[in-house]
Amino acid sequence: MLDERIKKITAHFNQDISAVKDTKQLEELRLKFLSRNGLVSQLFDELKNASKEEKPVLGKLLNALRNEVTEKFNLLKDHIDSLEKESVEKIDLSLPGFERTIGSKHLLIQTLNEIKSIFKGLGFSVIEGPELESDYNNFGALNFPPDHPARDMQDTFFINSDFLLRTHTSPVQIRIMEKTKPPVRAIMPGRVYRNEAISSRSYCVFHQVEGLYVDNDVTFAELKGTLVAFAHQFYGENLKYRFRPSFFPFTEPSAEMDITCFLCHGKGCKVCKHSGWLEILGCGMVDPNVFDNVNYDHEQYTGYAFGMGIERTALLKYGIDDIRVFFDNDFRFLKQF
Ligand code: PHE
Repeated sequence: MLDERIKKITAHFNQDISAVKDTKQLEELRLKFLSRNGLVSQLFDELKNASKEEKPVLGKLLNALRNEVTEKFNLLKDHIDSLEKESVEKIDLSLPGFERTIGSKHLLIQTLNEIKSIFKGLGFSVIEGPELESDYNNFGALNFPPDHPARDMQDTFFINSDFLLRTHTSPVQIRIMEKTKPPVRAIMPGRVYRNEAISSRSYCVFHQVEGLYVDNDVTFAELKGTLVAFAHQFYGENLKYRFRPSFFPFTEPSAEMDITCFLCHGKGCKVCKHSGWLEILGCGMVDPNVFDNVNYDHEQYTGYAFGMGIERTALLKYGIDDIRVFFDNDFRFLKQF
């Protein structure tokens, strides 16, 4: 009887142990067979009831069973322990962690966002136009005479005789006025292209922000007031400014706006080329010929326009001396802003 049960339990144990995969299952196996109330101990308890002659034989069998079960259990325990230790050791806590590089806005976008928010505060909306433009929008409608030097192949990337990469954002003025009736008050940011020799001061691609305000009785005084308010907010309250007469085919009169150099405060330095002044934008009153081209009544409406380079604006504000850094995407530069 008992020897039958010993055989059964041996088989039972061998079957159970083959399914054990981790410490938890191993402990369940120990409780079932090897603990104080386990199946093996129960067999030892039953040995009491065996006859005198049977006892030594059965005792031997039982001892053999207990040894076999214990040995197999210990072997498996060592194996599972070492596997678990190995997987813990795979995490090398002495390795340096991974640095998370967090993206940030390019200085150009930061500058543009600042310009946008100032003009939005002054009542301007933001409108964009295409980089591929017609010769007419880029030049003709803006009152450039057909033989104007700016149309020269030297400065303009022509696609064919009618289309080109816009050389400034002023053609967006034409697009807006052709579509909407006054009042019009918008800024127009975007990328522009010029076929220029690349240097620290000029690049073949750059960005501008155009401004346009057309309504009844818009005056040059309003143009000045708006641009001075912008300059004070963007560059600082304490700067001095001046408007110098200039020329653009699409504005009359035209002007350029200078502010006192905020690096040397007007004393003269490398950045302002020892003049004490920095040129920040071009502007003027919309030429009546431009109004005629977009079918605005130039007797009824007046307007002003202005344009500034975004790279140039950022260069000045942050004291950067080479325009090419905006396009290099060198982390050492980008990280500083
Ligand atoms: N489009 C001119 C330029 O690229 C700037 C400008 C815009 C001047 C609007 C006057 C009015 O230089």
